[in-house]
Amino acid sequence: MNVYIASDHGGYQKKQQLIIQLQQQGYHVIDMGATTLLPTDDYPDYALTLGKKVIQDPTSRGILICGTGIGMSIACNKINGIRCAKVGDEQEASLARLHNDANVIALSGRKPEEQLYRFIEIFLTTDFSMAEWHQRRIAKIRAYEEQHEY
Ligand code: RB5
Repeated sequence: MNVYIASDHGGYQKKQQLIIQLQQQGYHVIDMGATTLLPTDDYPDYALTLGKKVIQDPTSRGILICGTGIGMSIACNKINGIRCAKVGDEQEASLARLHNDANVIALSGRKPEEQLYRFIEIFLTTDFSMAEWHQRRIAKIRAYEEQHEY
């Protein structure tokens, strides 16, 4: 599975640390930037670029990190087919996959690295439940997106 990861300056240092941990665990990680710590960079640029990549590579997952995870999730969810969950604890990491079949998570760079790694690990190793009612709800989102293609 390809794992795309991106951050703005608010998540840059955590991104660099997490890439090393993920690679050590054998994940194929693709760094979508930022490539330097530049306080003038903007989270929508990274969130939109990563979201498009994940849509082009349907078996992949995405990880976004900014100061809070909020801006990244708002921006990435503008891409049709993206289900980006802003995750702040282990249960949310798990339910984002089980219930929402999230293909991207957005994290806060203010949280400790070990906590973020644990959220990512859960996100990458938990399967969608496939329950009929969860599939039905996701299908309604997809139907809306298909009617409002742009
Ligand atoms: C950048 O200053 C900050 O706004 C960003 O990292 C993020 O927290 C936005 O939601």
